[in-house]
Amino acid sequence: MEIKLIGVIGAGQMGSGISEVCLTSGFQVLMSDINWETIGRGKVRITGDLEKRVQKGKMTSDEKEGILKRLSTTTRIEDFGNCDFVIEAAVENVPLKEEIFKRLDEVTRKEIILASNTSSISITRIASFTKRPDRVIGMHFFNPAPVMKLIEIIRGLVTSDETFQITRELSLKLGKTPLEANDFPGFVSSRLIFSFMNEAIYAFYEGLGKAEDIDAVMKMGANHPMGPLELADFVGLDTVLSVMKVLQEAFGDKYRPCPLLIKYVDAGYLGVKTGRGFYPYGGK
Ligand code: CAA
Repeated sequence: MEIKLIGVIGAGQMGSGISEVCLTSGFQVLMSDINWETIGRGKVRITGDLEKRVQKGKMTSDEKEGILKRLSTTTRIEDFGNCDFVIEAAVENVPLKEEIFKRLDEVTRKEIILASNTSSISITRIASFTKRPDRVIGMHFFNPAPVMKLIEIIRGLVTSDETFQITRELSLKLGKTPLEANDFPGFVSSRLIFSFMNEAIYAFYEGLGKAEDIDAVMKMGANHPMGPLELADFVGLDTVLSVMKVLQEAFGDKYRPCPLLIKYVDAGYLGVKTGRGFYPYGGK
């Protein structure tokens, strides 16, 4: 079956980035979120990014307009009935994913693949929320989705070979490199990336160095494009905390979220998106 219309659940940082990748690869996209304000912000992000490409001479204005015409939006999961493939990119919360996957299972055609962009939650568990666990798979993009080359593909225990192959081929059509990881919470990427960020937060909390210096060590000493604290602000401290909690629940206290991370999230210091994290971004 040919994939023409891709449904993306979530219009936040990841959902809008994934939508942009699908749109610029020639697909039609239906992007949803629970409120129009978030959808509006997602559309502004996509439009702004395409406009930058026009200004850099990488795309014409007409191409940009053509791409944007393929984007439609909704706040209702019922509208996903015509989608040929769905990618869920909602927040990292198991009850929410359960509700979304149960609804998607009801409204989409039975043969349609339901992929999750979860950073940490077991795909086998997500698949169990549906009556088509063989058609559920992890398709893990990285932030910023339009730039990062990798898609980590995760099979649940009963994901079929056909589902894996279709998802792999779609990832290639999106211009990405698919790599397979085993289905344990956090897979390969989040287990490494998030524990690295959490460890840097411990280093800051324990007074090993100033935030700028901890980041500079990794940028200049290990050639990372961003330091771990800068990266945590970029990913969102609420996301870092949610993923660490999933890792801690699965593997024990080795992955205990740093108390300072919990304090920052409680204070609403979520990083770039709230204007304040380990660094100020012109917010509170
Ligand atoms: N959206 C789209 N494009 C973006 C972008 C964004 N948010 N940020 C940068 N770009 C583009 C720029 O337009 C530019 O494009 P061109 O080369 O076509 O001109 C290119 O990326 C490079 O950007 P810059 O020169 O402005 O900046 P940079 O060289 O410092 O790169 C970066 C920015 C790509 C974000 C780089 O700092 C980087 O790779 N950082 C690390 C990102 C990372 O580790 N991501 C993984 C996070 S963990 C995760 O995602 C997992 C999860 O589950 C949450």
